[in-house]
Amino acid sequence: MNIGEELINYETVSLEEVNTWFKVASIEDFPENGGACAVYRGLQIAIFNFSRRNEWYATQNLCPHKQQMILARGIIGSQKNEPKVACPYHKKAFSLKSGKNLNGNECDLATYPVKVESGYVYVGFKE
Ligand code: FES
Repeated sequence: MNIGEELINYETVSLEEVNTWFKVASIEDFPENGGACAVYRGLQIAIFNFSRRNEWYATQNLCPHKQQMILARGIIGSQKNEPKVACPYHKKAFSLKSGKNLNGNECDLATYPVKVESGYVYVGFKE
């Protein structure tokens, strides 16, 4: 499978759909206002500790623009109060809440629910 075909493996999971919470790591393992990548069943997931807003987000790590596994190293910020990640390669920006592409024609990102419990970060999946 090439990486372009891999895009179809990433599908947004809503909070209501979660039936599996994957324990990723301790909150200390995540940089403040930055991201880290975790692998769940072959999927690369970018998890963001948006500490300035006291919020956590998870998206596919795969940037749909040139199919690079890179978004965990993206720059996070806000655009009209919408939390976003900008890909480090060509600066395409995506909403961290909805995954929506904020400035172009590329595909949106899949997003996943995140919860923090007893100092650990979990990402929600549907099986
Ligand atoms: S590869 Fe991400 S913006 Fe081009």
